[in-house]
Amino acid sequence: MLGLFKGFGRGQRASAPTVEHPPLQVKPRHIGIIMDGNGRWARKRALPRMAGHHAGMISMRETIRACDDFGIECVTLYAFSTENWKRPVSEVEYLMRLPEQFFRSEIDELVSRGVRVRFMGDTSRLPPYTQETVRNSLERTAQNTGMTVNFALNYGGRSELMHAMSQFAQEVAAGRTCADELTEERFESYLDTAGLPPLDFVIRTSGEIRLSNFLIWQSAYAELWFTDTLWPDFSKEELYQAILEFGRRKRRFGDVE
Ligand code: IPE
Ligand code: IPE
Ligand code: MG
Repeated sequence: MLGLFKGFGRGQRASAPTVEHPPLQVKPRHIGIIMDGNGRWARKRALPRMAGHHAGMISMRETIRACDDFGIECVTLYAFSTENWKRPVSEVEYLMRLPEQFFRSEIDELVSRGVRVRFMGDTSRLPPYTQETVRNSLERTAQNTGMTVNFALNYGGRSELMHAMSQFAQEVAAGRTCADELTEERFESYLDTAGLPPLDFVIRTSGEIRLSNFLIWQSAYAELWFTDTLWPDFSKEELYQAILEFGRRKRRFGDVE
């Protein structure tokens, strides 16, 4: 089943000519990407949705390479949401096998680039083989000090916030702290993104203009960028253009210029 869709990925197509870009002057430290549109990409080609997810995985690999080439510190990739369990079992199973497939072919390159892998979301509810991939890729990259690639797997912003609140409440109940000692900084230490640079740029592909439960606390002051491009067609060139636009935005954070 997994090998069935080899050949449909955009990695198999003639590659686009490499464009030389001047170095980016202003860059986001942490980019979040809602990788959407795999199903529609496949439907346009009369292929099964799984072929779209396979092509999406190739696009994810290219995007990780591009972020590293552009000197981005951290990229968070929305791979599976807490709502995606509603999908047909066969699609969920395919999606749960993708991390294994991805890391089997990419882990050596990630290690050689010095990439540190992280996961966010409730990984304890993933199938055992997916959890094993999570553990192995964390172990293999734990000593790295380069770009962080944070995979959101069984992640939902609301569930992350509920979990953070319950952790704090337990500390209050145990007498280790008082309710009025809660600050924004402290609250952030309970979130899945603790220790990562602040999220400053969110990209969503496929023309949908919503966050779909992605990093809802962290995106409060992030710049948002939407494109109609379907995720498997997203390219290094488009990422470069998006970051250029990020650099042109005036970030006032409520202040005056
Ligand atoms: C994004 O593509 C991948 C996941 C949500 C896992 P979709 O599968 O949502 O593609 P569309 O939105 O149906 O085109
Ligand atoms: C968001 O895409 C989740 C991921 C990209 C993993 P969805 O396709 O699930 O979002 P909705 O259903 O259009 O909001
Ligand atoms: Mg979608």
